[in-house]
Amino acid sequence: MSEDKAVTTPAKSGGATLTRDTAPGEVLLKVTGLQKHFPIRKGLLQRQVGAVHAVDGIDFEVRSGETLGVVGESGCGKSTMGRLITRLLEPTAGKVEFEGQDITHLGVGGMRPLRRDVQMIFQDPYSSLNPRHTIGTIVGAPFRLQDVTPAGGIKKEVQRLLGVVGLNPEHYNRYPHEFSGGQRQRIGIARALALNPKLVVADEPVSALDVSIQAQVVNLLDDLQQELGLTYVIIAHDLSVVRHVSDRIAVMYLGKIVELADRDQLYKSPMHPYTKALLSAVPIPDPRRKEAKSERILLKGDVPSPIAPPSGCRFHTRCWKATQICTTAEPPLVELRPGQQVACHHPENFEDQQPQDTVLLTVAKEAAELVADEVLAESAQTSAALAAEVRTDEDAAGSGTGEAAEPAAAADDATGPAGSTESAGSTGPAEEPDEPAKGDAKGDDK
Ligand SMILES: Nc1ncnc2c1ncn2[C@@H]1O[C@H](COP(=O)(O)OP(=O)(O)OP(=O)(O)O)[C@@H](O)[C@H]1O
Ligand code: SF4
Ligand SMILES: [Mg+2]
Repeated sequence: MSEDKAVTTPAKSGGATLTRDTAPGEVLLKVTGLQKHFPIRKGLLQRQVGAVHAVDGIDFEVRSGETLGVVGESGCGKSTMGRLITRLLEPTAGKVEFEGQDITHLGVGGMRPLRRDVQMIFQDPYSSLNPRHTIGTIVGAPFRLQDVTPAGGIKKEVQRLLGVVGLNPEHYNRYPHEFSGGQRQRIGIARALALNPKLVVADEPVSALDVSIQAQVVNLLDDLQQELGLTYVIIAHDLSVVRHVSDRIAVMYLGKIVELADRDQLYKSPMHPYTKALLSAVPIPDPRRKEAKSERILLKGDVPSPIAPPSGCRFHTRCWKATQICTTAEPPLVELRPGQQVACHHPENFEDQQPQDTVLLTVAKEAAELVADEVLAESAQTSAALAAEVRTDEDAAGSGTGEAAEPAAAADDATGPAGSTESAGSTGPAEEPDEPAKGDAKGDDK
């Protein structure tokens, strides 16, 4: 996370930090042309009749020590991307490199060392912890899976980790149902941190939590990053969350990255119309935007089906700037400004965009409309409440720790990278031989 916030980590990590092979700022993870198509099969013979283009050719890098935020509407492929880079899913095409090593098709044995370095925190703190296992078993699972015995023993290390995430070490023998959603998310985070990972991929780590609890979890992740030198990929559908935690932000639409930019640049001067639309629905902190009624855009309709994405620019069915070329030619993701990559034929805030007299598609003109403040009131309320709760530089001192309160989320005890399991939460037919089965990790009450 980018801001120089005071470190108020609940407990000292005590020698837990690994020696890093990748210096801060160097590329830790590199993704090239990454694709995941889920086959759709039908009939007795289960013939493939199509595919869900969940992730459809994306390129990006994650540098050591940074936080890359990934945002986009539901179904745009964020979780699939997260599972691909943590190797919970086998890509259809493309390449994933971690610390310069090609890990795209590593088998179980080859992935074993990587499982220590790359961890995932899942969205749902209620289904991601096995209700039949104690907290001690859940947080200690990665040690057993990797056959690692920490100095002082597993129990002592687990109790230390519980302290690090702001939970009471005495809770070692309790069960998940005895904790709130926020506390469960902290348990998940403790589990993800057990093996001192280099990269943590957090898939909507706070979206299942109350707004006030969200801020505590976001702050905890921030503190942990500073203390342990972690690198994050944080997935969210809400720009208000990633705004506070990201150094750079990737905006996804229908399986593609449409804009990738430094956080401040993206908020100050978004260049992709979709980014602009997403931002206009988050009328938080900037008082100047309060007056900017005409800048608010409400996208109509749902995201088109990823089974048959629109031709050309996938956003053309909802874009108010779409022209003929947008329907036929797919715009490549190119760096239009230093640190700002955009995939658009007529980017915003860019002098070289097409002349304003370019004929707009009728359908596109109708695809978006300006909306009244009331329509956005609900999202504004949520965003503002979160923004108010998230600690700023000024109020950072004295916040943050102690009360065993919230977050959550890592996958269940024992599988995946760090032993995580999470249901795909997806629709449609799927393959996924390498997807851990959900098992019994459900059924909690709170
Ligand atoms: N195992 C699967 N089999 C078939 N389709 C899948 C599978 N997993 C995901 N999908 C589909 O791939 C697309 C992308 O799903 P994904 O879960 O990655 O989206 P997302 O951006 O994380 O959405 P959300 O914000 O709702 O979590 C969706 O259309 C989804 O239905
Ligand atoms: S202007 Fe064209 S290329 Fe740019 S986002 Fe809109 S439809 Fe896509
Ligand atoms: Mg998801």
